[in-house]
Amino acid sequence: MKEKLEAIKSEAISKLQESGNLEALDKVRVEILGKKGKLTEVLKGMKDVPKEDRPKVGQLVNDTRKAIEEKLEDIKTELEAKLREEKLKAEVIDVTLPAKKNKIGHKHPNTLALEELERIFIGMGYEVVEGPEVEFDYYNFEALNIPDNHPAKDEQDTFYINKNIVLRTQTSSVQARIMEKSKPPIRIVSPGRVYRSDQVDATHSPSFHQIEGLVIDKDVTFADLKGTLLQFAKELFGENTEVKFRPHHFPFTEPSAEVDVTCFKCGGKGCRMCKGEGWIEILGCGMVHPNVLKMSGIDPNEYQGFAFGVGLERIALLKYEIDDMRLLYENDERFLGQF
Ligand code: DAH
Repeated sequence: MKEKLEAIKSEAISKLQESGNLEALDKVRVEILGKKGKLTEVLKGMKDVPKEDRPKVGQLVNDTRKAIEEKLEDIKTELEAKLREEKLKAEVIDVTLPAKKNKIGHKHPNTLALEELERIFIGMGYEVVEGPEVEFDYYNFEALNIPDNHPAKDEQDTFYINKNIVLRTQTSSVQARIMEKSKPPIRIVSPGRVYRSDQVDATHSPSFHQIEGLVIDKDVTFADLKGTLLQFAKELFGENTEVKFRPHHFPFTEPSAEVDVTCFKCGGKGCRMCKGEGWIEILGCGMVHPNVLKMSGIDPNEYQGFAFGVGLERIALLKYEIDDMRLLYENDERFLGQF
């Protein structure tokens, strides 16, 4: 009996040692210690052992079982540790792999241009104010010296909500609103969206943006307007930029002018950018018409002022050398991603 148990023990131990993985180990356990296992069989045979030998044999069987179980535990612990180590090795992070890139959004060229313009005027002491896009016909036309039968109203044909309410055609509509409710001195810029019933092409869109400027104070002259816009042009396009005032007509300013700047690409020699002219038109301006002051409750004998209106898209197209306004609105990431 003793030899038999020894044989089972050594067979079990060598099988356990050879098992190599947890599954195989469990198989060996069942084979030896399971219900139909070899050691269990020996226990079942106890009834054939003479009564007086039974305690001794029983002890021997138990010792054998214990030895096998201990060995089993040891090997199990070893195998589990090995498995854990392998798993950790497989999960190692390769810090040399390229990182996953997060795509972070950024500002639209219109926004970049707007922030630049605001920065320049805030630097000169202007306040940024906003007005409504859905506007009374009165503020968009009437209060700007454009009565109902004025031809300028045709030029800026717009979208009517009803007879008295329009989608504003120009940010100039903010002028009267500000003058009505505040006392001079006034020094504001007002950016925002405007609407006209224009067909879409490379330079037109039914909805675009302007920035309006308005200054009202005592003893304001055309020289102040010129100095202000020259400084603005220099900050926007470079220190060597010069400006040219061409006489023009706007109903709400008198005298009025359109302002050209020397082409920042060729410095005024003439190139593709300025279509060979050397000059690029950037805005309209003038001295606020006395009628406009009067209608808004400001005495033209006491106060004067100047105003200007800049097309934001025009500035963005020039600054970033974009040749088609539609690109700004098509939301093509390949285009927008460049700014
Ligand atoms: N509102 C004009 C337009 O849309 C631009 C403009 C011209 C604004 C002269 C002004 C100005 O304030 O003085 O064409």
